[in-house]
Amino acid sequence: MHHFDYRNGSLFAEDVPLSRIAQEVGTPVYVYSSATLERHFRVFCEATGAKPNHVFYAVKANGNLGVLMTLAKLGAGADTVSEGEIRKAIAAGIPPERIVFSGVGKTEAELAYAVETGIYQVNIETESELDMLSAIASARGKRQAAVFRVNPEVGSGGHAKITTGDSANKFGVSFQEAERLYHRAANMPGISIQGIAAHIGSQITEFSAYRAAFTKLRGIVENLRRMGLPVSRLDLGGGVGVPYEMSYPYRHGPDTVQAYGDMVREVTAGLDIELGFEPGRVIVGNAGVLLTRIVHTNHRADRTFLIVDSGMNDLVRPAMYEAYHEIWPVTEPSADAKPTPFDIVGPICESSDVFATGRMMAPAKPGDLIVFKTAGAYGASMSSTYNQRLLVPEVLVNGAEYAVTRPRQTYEELLGTDRKPPWL
Ligand SMILES: Cc1ncc(COP(=O)(O)O)c(C=O)c1O
Repeated sequence: MHHFDYRNGSLFAEDVPLSRIAQEVGTPVYVYSSATLERHFRVFCEATGAKPNHVFYAVKANGNLGVLMTLAKLGAGADTVSEGEIRKAIAAGIPPERIVFSGVGKTEAELAYAVETGIYQVNIETESELDMLSAIASARGKRQAAVFRVNPEVGSGGHAKITTGDSANKFGVSFQEAERLYHRAANMPGISIQGIAAHIGSQITEFSAYRAAFTKLRGIVENLRRMGLPVSRLDLGGGVGVPYEMSYPYRHGPDTVQAYGDMVREVTAGLDIELGFEPGRVIVGNAGVLLTRIVHTNHRADRTFLIVDSGMNDLVRPAMYEAYHEIWPVTEPSADAKPTPFDIVGPICESSDVFATGRMMAPAKPGDLIVFKTAGAYGASMSSTYNQRLLVPEVLVNGAEYAVTRPRQTYEELLGTDRKPPWL
């Protein structure tokens, strides 16, 4: 269940009216609910039976400091894909021994930082990374705990651009090479090889591909053990989907996560192995909305555009993944309001800057506030300053209080990072 609901005709985040945040912080602004984050994290742990420190929250989904601190307090670990994400997780209070480092293109500098920091696990994705990591760790007199991310040749996901487990995808060592590489790693001076990992895609709501991929991973674990190699960790990645299309009144039960947990338990039964998870979207997706204001309407013969003050630079999912977000007005429409089709668009100079086409909504006009729902994951974390727009601010609500956990960028900050070339 999320905590964005109408009270007396006005949309609230927990106990804070969104109209108050719009007035005090301005729009556009991301608003997150602590209670939703906490609940989703607990539900995930309960459904999978995972210990909190083996749930490595995928920082890429939402790296806001307040979000990370909330999860850190619950004992969460972090799945990171860059030195910046490792640093951010540590700054939020997630200790290195709860951090895993994934990604296909880790640089020498990043791996050296990870080894020196003493992170829990490196998820190796190529043979050259294996060699690089061993050299880096042994030069420092260390053995780095690591697993191989294996490409199981089973992909899944809500869109081709977020499917990662197909053989055509760049992620992970090939399924056929996994056992040879594991053997090699077991004899390398700088590596303490612990197990294998996979992450087959994102926004997965039907679990047959997961089942097929995890069954293949189980086969690798059993083969390796038969060869006498110790395998103590199995990292199952992230990818559990969330419902984007739900109508008000909206109640999100824990059924999907429970079904995922049951499937994992079934596939890994009797394996006697430490399971790790890297959920992102399912923790934070429904914990956030993008609050925005309608600035203009543009009436055409065949449609009406509602032009809002957020753009694809603030929330790129519709433009990039053809993603659907529920749109709710902040002022609850009266019961007899006649739904009308609108095209909701942003101010960016791109025809792809469209949030929704022909969306049936109660009549709306310039000045009205609306929210894009389920915007907590891959929203702010993918935002940019495209069109020289200020980076969107972020707010974390906790009961009746809220904090601006990332203020709106200023024009001085936006322009201040540039340097003039000396010859001009
Ligand atoms: C390696 C890895 N782990 C975890 C995740 C999190 O995925 P999701 O947010 O779908 O749970 C991703 C997302 O792309 C990923 O690449």
